[in-house]
Amino acid sequence: MSGPVGHSGAEPTAGVPGGRAPFLIEGRGLRRVFSTGGVDTVALASVDLAIRPGEMLAIIGPSGSGKSTLMALLGCLDRPTGGTYLLEGRDVTHLSDDDLSAVRNKTIGFVFQSFHLLPRSTARENVELPLIYAGVPRRERRERSKALLESVGLGHRLDHRPNQMSGGENQRVAIARALVNDPGLILADEPTGNLDSRSGTEILGLFTRLNRERGVSVILVTHDPRVAEQCDRVIEIFDGLVVRDSRKGDAPSRGGAA
Ligand SMILES: Nc1ncnc2c1ncn2[C@@H]1O[C@H](COP(=O)(O)OP(=O)(O)O)[C@@H](O)[C@H]1O
Ligand SMILES: [Mg+2]
Repeated sequence: MSGPVGHSGAEPTAGVPGGRAPFLIEGRGLRRVFSTGGVDTVALASVDLAIRPGEMLAIIGPSGSGKSTLMALLGCLDRPTGGTYLLEGRDVTHLSDDDLSAVRNKTIGFVFQSFHLLPRSTARENVELPLIYAGVPRRERRERSKALLESVGLGHRLDHRPNQMSGGENQRVAIARALVNDPGLILADEPTGNLDSRSGTEILGLFTRLNRERGVSVILVTHDPRVAEQCDRVIEIFDGLVVRDSRKGDAPSRGGAA
């Protein structure tokens, strides 16, 4: 991987480092209840969660168990109904919308199942978008978007639009966009859910490299046991509760399966 990808300044922290890194994420009793039309839905009952910088973690669980709700809380897209959320040691539970979005833009890159790219914009324009919001000058935007797209293997697709690319390519554009502000944390909600297995494997390989080589923390929601297997730690959610939290330690790398 070349170019300015990932979290500069972060040493890769394979497994649990010898020292005691502070938690990147600490959720205590996280609860989220949706009230619509007089009906309360408890999407998250009470979730305790502590994640260190440099972890690569999968969240699994059946549909409707609360995975996306949890990701939205962890990503500061939403606030909990109860409990406390510390991000990089800072209590962000009650921040205003503006403060939350500032934290989000600085710290977190998002990747979604359906890519969420602008359909009429080129790969490069999609990647540049967060930089426009951040007020980065045009020339620097052009350089960074190009370097990032090259780093995800899309140097030959800079001016392609989403409908001119495969699903796997679109997801790589989305990953380049997620990385453009150099976040320390990537949150990906079923990032391989719309892809064939080969493209899914490529996308997973990109996340793994970002994690191993650049020290970017990765949390991904997946239905695919093979994806979960590649992660150092798996958290299983059921009915809004964590029912399993298992760690692999330093798992042997499997190389290219299939
Ligand atoms: N905005 C919302 N309004 C009402 N109910 C919601 C909302 N978002 C999620 N839910 C409900 O919360 C539960 C958990 O949803 P979700 O987190 O999307 O599950 P998962 O991602 O695991 O499939 C489900 O019962 C869902 O219907
Ligand atoms: Mg979901």
